[in-house]
Amino acid sequence: MLTEWIKAPADADYARAKAWLLAGDVVAFPTETVYGLGAYVGSEAGLARIFEAKGRPSDNPLIVHVAPGMDLSEIVREFPPEAQALADRFWPGPMTMILRKNPKLSDTVTARLDTVAVRMPSHPMAMALLQKTGLPIAAPSANTSGRPSPTSAAHVYEDMSGRIPMLLDGGPCAVGLESTIIDLSERPFCVLRPGAITLEALREVLGDVYMDPGLTVGADVTPKAPGMKYRHYAPKGELWMATGTPDEQRAKIQKALADACGRGRRGVLTTKEHATDFTAEVVLCLGSRQAPDEMAAHLFDCLRRFDEMGCDVIFAETMDWTGIGTAVMNRLKKAAGGQTLS
Ligand code: TXA
Ligand code: MG
Repeated sequence: MLTEWIKAPADADYARAKAWLLAGDVVAFPTETVYGLGAYVGSEAGLARIFEAKGRPSDNPLIVHVAPGMDLSEIVREFPPEAQALADRFWPGPMTMILRKNPKLSDTVTARLDTVAVRMPSHPMAMALLQKTGLPIAAPSANTSGRPSPTSAAHVYEDMSGRIPMLLDGGPCAVGLESTIIDLSERPFCVLRPGAITLEALREVLGDVYMDPGLTVGADVTPKAPGMKYRHYAPKGELWMATGTPDEQRAKIQKALADACGRGRRGVLTTKEHATDFTAEVVLCLGSRQAPDEMAAHLFDCLRRFDEMGCDVIFAETMDWTGIGTAVMNRLKKAAGGQTLS
């Protein structure tokens, strides 16, 4: 199958996207978080194609993407006042809510759970796709299962070329990490996946909200979001995190680089502040510690580039588990399988 890569979609392209979706196929599209691989929620064939194209386990449910004005009653059983309050504040935007599902909604979308994940993305091209097709679209991230989520059309093409008919190119994703997921289906309300909408921001609207105990440092509890239990984001090379103050991190990485001499291609994931402090085969910079959002936006691209450059071992600087740093560290910790430099 030829994958058509469309840079500035016109109305006719959206019309063809709609035709693919109704015919039971998938379309990749940009959102402000990461690129999604979308199917119409009403097409079992399209939903099956998502799992097939990604190599995704069928017990991992999908997020339903909606636009303003869509009839949510087809998707959720109820839209409680707490959901309305969060939607008023954070939609369209990088926040997904878990709600009780409408029993009519396909079990393929929800992996047979009695809840469903719903999100209204703010990216203009995602919004255009949803509004011009008028279809609610189920979409996971558009990467091969296990790889870092795609934050550019080139990343999607890398993983999906020849497997999908159409890729809408909306440029690099501004947030660069997947949406915050909050579970409103039971109390206490719980964040199942940290993202750009922080715990603090959610608490401003809802009062008490907790972080899923399965996500915190050193946890041995299974996370509640099925997708969070899988090994994920891992580059092919071995990845180690450096903890402590920025100075301590630099010292640990410099020592690790010396020890790893002769162990193949060594990579460092650093910050602007330390960009010239390391001697290694590959040094990639996340951005400045003064701009944590920028660091977040570059993480997945850097992880992919270590693979491209054939790194065998990678040493990464880390951030504090606060604000967007919680989301960055959650992904980095998964990518490293929890390994830290001593
Ligand atoms: O930013 C995003 O959310 C991106 C863009 C494309 O919107 N999508 C995304 O989808 O990250 P995906 O499939 O890669 O991640 C969805 C996560 C998985 O961890 C899945 O287990 C969880 O949401 N999830 C979906 N439905 C759920 C449910 N009913 N209960 C608990 N977790 C759910
Ligand atoms: Mg994903």
